[in-house]
Amino acid sequence: MNDPIKSRLLELAANFKDELGGVIPLLHQVQKQFGYIPKSCAETVAPLFRLSTAEVEGVISFYHQFKREPQGKHRIQICRAEACQANGCRELEAFSKEYLQLEYGQTSADGLLSLDSVYCLGLCSHGPAVRVDDDLFVEVGTEKLQSIVEGLNDGR
Ligand code: FES
Repeated sequence: MNDPIKSRLLELAANFKDELGGVIPLLHQVQKQFGYIPKSCAETVAPLFRLSTAEVEGVISFYHQFKREPQGKHRIQICRAEACQANGCRELEAFSKEYLQLEYGQTSADGLLSLDSVYCLGLCSHGPAVRVDDDLFVEVGTEKLQSIVEGLNDGR
């Protein structure tokens, strides 16, 4: 039976299979195209890289940015690194979890929002820092976070 996910994984893998360490750029490409790493990925691509399924699974598990489940349309990442902690990110994260009704790593039931943590966005003196999709926000307090999320909801 034709499996479109497997076919697409094999197509992508063909572009990286001859590169040294090509499995990592491949996984980034899979994450980008699918929005997550499909369950069948490791098993499908491992032989092309002369790796075991377990070795590819190990790479997927090691990197925080590789997601096992489909992500929300918008991805909110709150910086939890030291400088942002000194600027109040703990309060922001507690508020965000309550406000969004999400834990880190979860996606809302309507598929609109995913919440995640991140460790340093390079904006350390202006924390708490937050990334929403490709946009960076600084000095994010609870009201600012609410207004960012309302903007996403309006734009859907
Ligand atoms: S510690 Fe948060 S941006 Fe660097």
